[in-house]
Amino acid sequence: MDRSRGIRDEQRAEWGAVAPGWQRNREKMAGPTSTITEKMLSLAGISAGQRVLDLACGVGDPAFAIAGLVGPGGYVLGLDLSPQMIEAARELSSREKVNNVEFRTIASELELGVPGESFDVATCRLGLMFMPDPVAALQEMRAALRPGGRVVASVWGAPERNPNFSVPMEIIARHADLTPQDADAPGLFAIPNPEKLETLLREAGFVDVEAFAFETPVVKAKDAESYWYGVSNVAGPLVSILASLSEEQRRAVREDVVEVIGGKFPDGPVEIDGEAVVAAGTRSSLKALSTGLHPARCGGTGRRRT
Ligand SMILES: C[S@@+](CC[C@H](N)C(=O)[O-])C[C@H]1O[C@@H](n2cnc3c(N)ncnc32)[C@H](O)[C@@H]1O
Repeated sequence: MDRSRGIRDEQRAEWGAVAPGWQRNREKMAGPTSTITEKMLSLAGISAGQRVLDLACGVGDPAFAIAGLVGPGGYVLGLDLSPQMIEAARELSSREKVNNVEFRTIASELELGVPGESFDVATCRLGLMFMPDPVAALQEMRAALRPGGRVVASVWGAPERNPNFSVPMEIIARHADLTPQDADAPGLFAIPNPEKLETLLREAGFVDVEAFAFETPVVKAKDAESYWYGVSNVAGPLVSILASLSEEQRRAVREDVVEVIGGKFPDGPVEIDGEAVVAAGTRSSLKALSTGLHPARCGGTGRRRT
């Protein structure tokens, strides 16, 4: 099977399996990581009346926050590979009576199904690193933007700065014989620093690109047991690995995670911070910049900001 199709099928299955957990725990999950949404929105410069495309929208973060910013005269379109995530997002929008947001399932990030140059802003929160070819995905987002439109994307930083994911992953690896992953394979840490994210945006043809890493709360849980319950119900990539283990291996992983995390937070709530990376760029309004020169050759380096 074609590599990209295989990756998408895997992603669709992984995220579909955890969509009910996302729907049930939306508030609990969105709360700690709201810093990421805030950084994205401040870079996007969204105003009332604008049209915004949110790719890999999940159950609606940041689509719902953006719907509030664009107001009744604006429009937000959330797109995702997973029909279950889209169903959950639609259910939430009808329950909350949010009328200026629409959610659609897409077969591929390369088939957005929108007219060219029809959006003011395009966002992608914690989704780009799961895509088979992030530059191609960014190029599609760029094509959907009007000249002068903005793109903003966020991803997770390096594993050593994200113990929320890396601690359980290390413990799983101790108990299971996992196939080593190709270093370039899409996944949680496929775009782990500002330099890489900035390069992707430039290669996709964006100008005025800026990228930086920052610390953010990632998870809050009342104790280590609840922490593990949350992670093992919502972290798509971890959940699919856990599903491939035996009952006994899963039990051993749970016991070790609870012991390690419980040992770090012996007296109370588990609060784990991590690192996210955000980047923004503009679709040039100058025709000359969109032809000829390969944008990557324009250079530029990522900056770290706290
Ligand atoms: C970590 S969730 C992020 C969801 C939401 N943006 C948020 O921040 O809460 C990743 C999402 O990316 C979606 N996804 C993965 N690969 C994708 C692709 N190739 N095209 C579109 N969506 C994709 C998944 O279905 C999932 O909903």
